[in-house]
Amino acid sequence: MRILLIGPPGGGKGTQAKFIVEKYGVPQISTGDMLREHVKNKTSLGVKAKSNMDNGELVSDSIILDMMKDRLSKNDCTHGYILDGFPRTIPQAQGLDKLLNILSHNLDLVIVIDVPDDAIVSRMGGRRLHPGSGRIYHVQYDPPKIENVDDITGEQLIIREDDKENTVRKRLQIYHEITSPLIKYYSKRGIVKSIDGNQNINDVSKSLNQLLQQ
Ligand code: AP5
Repeated sequence: MRILLIGPPGGGKGTQAKFIVEKYGVPQISTGDMLREHVKNKTSLGVKAKSNMDNGELVSDSIILDMMKDRLSKNDCTHGYILDGFPRTIPQAQGLDKLLNILSHNLDLVIVIDVPDDAIVSRMGGRRLHPGSGRIYHVQYDPPKIENVDDITGEQLIIREDDKENTVRKRLQIYHEITSPLIKYYSKRGIVKSIDGNQNINDVSKSLNQLLQQ
């Protein structure tokens, strides 16, 4: 099972990817999480990517494709994966095609999570993140058991630097201009399916499950 999730920033890709991971036992590969790990560890890649990320801009295609070449070649990818946040540009999608060809992998399904911009902006202010694991919460819609504390480790949650309203609006603009053309790119192959992401988290999961069983 090789699935690609496309959706606006804050559309629920990470939240829903976790459910697919639990159910099907394939890894979630999030370029956002990988980049944040590089930033946290102050690697040279992280130093290069940080200002783009903080400003809500895309990191360069060459950095992303190099990172994914290594990641998709790892052993845990043999039986499938969920791509979350990659590809995000047409050159990245073309690079992924080449990579999949080399690895003899096929992309089975592209799932588009649709959420209107206004719903995104009101959601993002409430997101909280456990930086160590990538676990995501929402103060109102998916709160941790203890306020501002990760359920599993007891460590403090953080607010992402790029979740400020102006940055979110910029990320949405980039999504519509640069990332959403990927829907057409993959539609030509007949592998795109959409779900309504503007429902509560459980209902989105149910829609996703129904779609995966088709
Ligand atoms: P990345 O981390 O990939 O950010 P994103 O795509 O903008 O997506 P998010 O992680 O913000 O949102 P999500 O869709 O996963 O939503 P979530 O489930 O958390 O990328 C960050 C940055 O890295 C980019 O801006 C760029 O700089 C760089 N980057 C990454 N990949 C790149 C690439 N390929 N090329 C170039 N640059 C790249 O949900 C959001 C919140 O809403 C949470 O609090 C959640 O609890 C809540 N929520 C989820 N679903 C619902 C629901 N149905 N109802 C109510 N609340 C909900």
